[in-house]
Amino acid sequence: MKSISLIQFLIEERRAGRVNAELSLLIEVVARACKRIAVATNKGALGGVLGEAGTGNIQGEAQKKLDVISNEILLEANAWGGQLAACASEEMEDPQPIPDMYPKGNHLLLFDPLDGSSNIDVNISVGTIFSVLRCPDGISEPKAEHFLQPGTTQLAAGYVVYGPATVLVLTFGHGTHEFTLDREVGSFVLSRRDIRIPEETGEFAINVSNQRHWEPPMQRYIGELLAGTDGPRGKDFNMRWVASMVADVHRIITRGGTFFYPLDAKIKSKGGKLRLMYEANPMAFIVEQAGGAATTGRQRILEVQPTGLHQRVPVFLGSKKEIEVATHYHLVADGAQG
Ligand code: AHG
Repeated sequence: MKSISLIQFLIEERRAGRVNAELSLLIEVVARACKRIAVATNKGALGGVLGEAGTGNIQGEAQKKLDVISNEILLEANAWGGQLAACASEEMEDPQPIPDMYPKGNHLLLFDPLDGSSNIDVNISVGTIFSVLRCPDGISEPKAEHFLQPGTTQLAAGYVVYGPATVLVLTFGHGTHEFTLDREVGSFVLSRRDIRIPEETGEFAINVSNQRHWEPPMQRYIGELLAGTDGPRGKDFNMRWVASMVADVHRIITRGGTFFYPLDAKIKSKGGKLRLMYEANPMAFIVEQAGGAATTGRQRILEVQPTGLHQRVPVFLGSKKEIEVATHYHLVADGAQG
């Protein structure tokens, strides 16, 4: 079979009228930056990239060296191309404007430069997650408020997993597609077109160490899965938890399954663990475009009206039927459904 590079795929999407030239360039630039992050990640201890950076981010989390390096790579790559009006990142409190010496474009880029960074030092998969929005008309210097658009307005979303292979997964709202990095050639090559997540599954991902802090409907749902053939679901379920959302989501879009980071008593005041704008929204877009579902347990993630750049939400995503069951239990507990 003739291989199709990311560049060729983007040209074809442009010809089909699904992507404009500026958005296509933006994705090319992000993909190129992610190749550099892949190289840095791959060098490990030999590249001096492991360990703490000695700084903290806006979330109050200690930054790893690779968090800082990945953020810088993405900012630098995206500054000069003329496709962006501004960037926002997990690692920075405020959006980063495009320097005055460069032309500005019509897009806003949000990213988590290195998701799952607790896994870097132990050589387990990490990744980059990104989301692209349109810059509101007439805004030449976008502020945080201009990024606060619901996930339904995303023009594109993607993630890159730095695992045994480096893999880019991308959607423009016309299906979800996977590209694998050919290291010898140096380009991403289409490896799966129009990925479909099976509607049913026997596999779930959740950090069970938080169980005692979960809300009652979450306790009920996971309790039923754990009861297996002896419980009301009448079948055994298997569990996985990588603690890198990118790796867990990649497993789900490859063989089905579900991922939950629910609300719990420890994180209730924050609204959840994962960030809406650059984790939950892009992953929800990717998963929905592959036939899966993504909710906060109460509402479709993509319909949440954002109130803050670094806002957190509960995340339930993956195989549709299971996400519907878990969401139904929460709505029933709230009295919103019978
Ligand atoms: P970060 O981006 O700060 O590395 O966060 C990782 C996220 C997500 O990737 C993962 O699913 C989750 O946090 C893991 O959380 P726990 O450590 O609480 O299991």
